[in-house]
Amino acid sequence: MKKLNRRDFVRTTAVAGMAAAAPRRLFGQGPTVITPKTVRPAVVASANGNQYKNGGPATCVETAFAMITGGSDVLDALIAGVSIVELDPEDSSVGYGGLPNAEGVVQLDSCCMHGPKKRAGGVAAIEGVRTPAKVAQLVADTTDHHLLVGRGAQDFARAMGFKIEDDLNTEKSRNLWLEWKRRTDPEHYLDPKKRAEAWYETGLQLVRDGLIDPEHYWGTINCDGINFKGELCGVTTTSGLAWKIPGRVGDSPILGAGLYVDGEIGAAGSTGRGEANLYNLCSFFIVEEMRRGASPKDAGMAALKRVQRNTIEKRLLNGRGQPNFGLNFYILNAKGEYAGVSMYGSTYSVCTEKGPQTLDTEPLLQGRPTD
Ligand code: GLY
Repeated sequence: MKKLNRRDFVRTTAVAGMAAAAPRRLFGQGPTVITPKTVRPAVVASANGNQYKNGGPATCVETAFAMITGGSDVLDALIAGVSIVELDPEDSSVGYGGLPNAEGVVQLDSCCMHGPKKRAGGVAAIEGVRTPAKVAQLVADTTDHHLLVGRGAQDFARAMGFKIEDDLNTEKSRNLWLEWKRRTDPEHYLDPKKRAEAWYETGLQLVRDGLIDPEHYWGTINCDGINFKGELCGVTTTSGLAWKIPGRVGDSPILGAGLYVDGEIGAAGSTGRGEANLYNLCSFFIVEEMRRGASPKDAGMAALKRVQRNTIEKRLLNGRGQPNFGLNFYILNAKGEYAGVSMYGSTYSVCTEKGPQTLDTEPLLQGRPTD
């Protein structure tokens, strides 16, 4: 594939990204021209933000960046970006094809925040809608509420014109659920204690056997962006923990946990073990650390250290007495500075005027979670 220079990249992704995902009003605009003002635009996301294209020409971060530099509202651009991943059946941690709960039903969570408008919306445990991030945006834009859950969230989506599908499984996600069932429930029922142990251990075994990408067990995409004017927004969307108890909601749709945006300070979002993040409300904490003057990286490291201190249960510790799970934060401040940090080594994605990149996160701990 021909390597794009910077000007080509901006022009190509602007047009291609818009063709894939942009609102109709953007068509017909000329090529995007970057004219530096106060802030260098940037989009920061989890690694899957620069991986999946759903058969289109551009990834999430490329699409969002092209739309932002083309003048779109920052949140519209981010939602268009994550929709690509939600709709791509190959990402089994988000939207359509996301790994289902313990009963084989796909339940999705999402939230978003608009810095300048100071609006937020979320949906949790919603079934039958491939693009929960768009529903979350409509909760923010058209209701007086910040979070709709379960059947109510689905009814709201139906009322807003979304197609409600009976089943969001793909062949791949259904087969993986069947394999999990076969391993955890061979005689239909085990006693509750054995079942709980088998549940956790079997999930990790599927990861160790290479059947599930470790990043997809707790899944999720978070994507945050800023434009020339310094307008900051963010969105997080997920199918949540694989094989969760039906109704389990993780950190992703919860403001302050899966995402927090303060338009004057910065944005932070998360992927990884949602319970660890929920307990510590890390995204809010990270933004508050930045308000106190911390850099994105230092703010994220402070949150990881807090999670480590608060992880004391033996079942959550590895042989070295350290957390046995992954947790990642993607952070962007109001100056356009960004960082990706994680409990253990991982990657994240960015898109700036240099084009899309997948970068290593800054890890708090060495080795692997399960060592
Ligand atoms: N971080 C995604 C979840 O735990 O649901």
